[in-house]
Amino acid sequence: MRRWWVLAMLAGGGCDDGGEAGGADVAVSADATSGQDTGGPEGGDGDAGGPDGEAPDQGASIDDVELAAADFDCMLEWTKVRRFYITNKLGRLEEALDVANNPAGGTYPPGTVIQLVPQEAMVKRAPGWNPVTNDWEFFFLNIDGDGQVTIGARGAEDTVNAFGGNCFECHNKAAPQWDLICEQDHGCDPLPLSARVIENLQQADARCR
Ligand code: HEC
Repeated sequence: MRRWWVLAMLAGGGCDDGGEAGGADVAVSADATSGQDTGGPEGGDGDAGGPDGEAPDQGASIDDVELAAADFDCMLEWTKVRRFYITNKLGRLEEALDVANNPAGGTYPPGTVIQLVPQEAMVKRAPGWNPVTNDWEFFFLNIDGDGQVTIGARGAEDTVNAFGGNCFECHNKAAPQWDLICEQDHGCDPLPLSARVIENLQQADARCR
């Protein structure tokens, strides 16, 4: 996993200059490891560990996922809940769906990955990874026309998107029971994107070709 993470860093490194807050946080949890071979029961999750599952890091935590660029696969193959797509890289999709579908909210299990648009992802890290963000790691992804992913920015409360918008500042406005998930009525300021536009962006996910 780490090998790919380094490659992703090299490939995506140019973006850090523009990202201001994005640059400093990319080195998080170098000692953490991936969820290799722990892909869930769903067919789409089987490759969760990336290409080098044969070399697990020492000190692997079964509760954590440190995703590399190549781990961000076609989101259209995940489970759709209302407007967003959700998967779990530690085989805990059912738990994640229980939270997503619970009218009272809840806390998503480690390994959960949620995307609304292909370029932005929230990944639930191990308990205690970052208490400020409820252990969410935010990603801004670059995806080229061939579906190759590089990580533009990753981290906790400092990650910004392509427009300089800080992920955490918006998502933190969700009421506490929603675990920083905004949707349309959890207390966040709305995105200036209609459901139709979001759907078009999703269907254009170049990773799915
Ligand atoms: C301007 C505020 C704002 C910023 C900045 C922002 N988001 Fe969001 N995000 C939202 C809102 C509002 C929604 C819900 C939109 C909807 O369902 O129509 C959302 C939806 C999402 C979702 C789907 C789950 C949910 O919360 O509904 C994910 C995942 C996500 N954003 C990740 C990110 C990441 C990662 C970044 C930074 C790279 C980011 N967002 C930046 C406001 C923001």
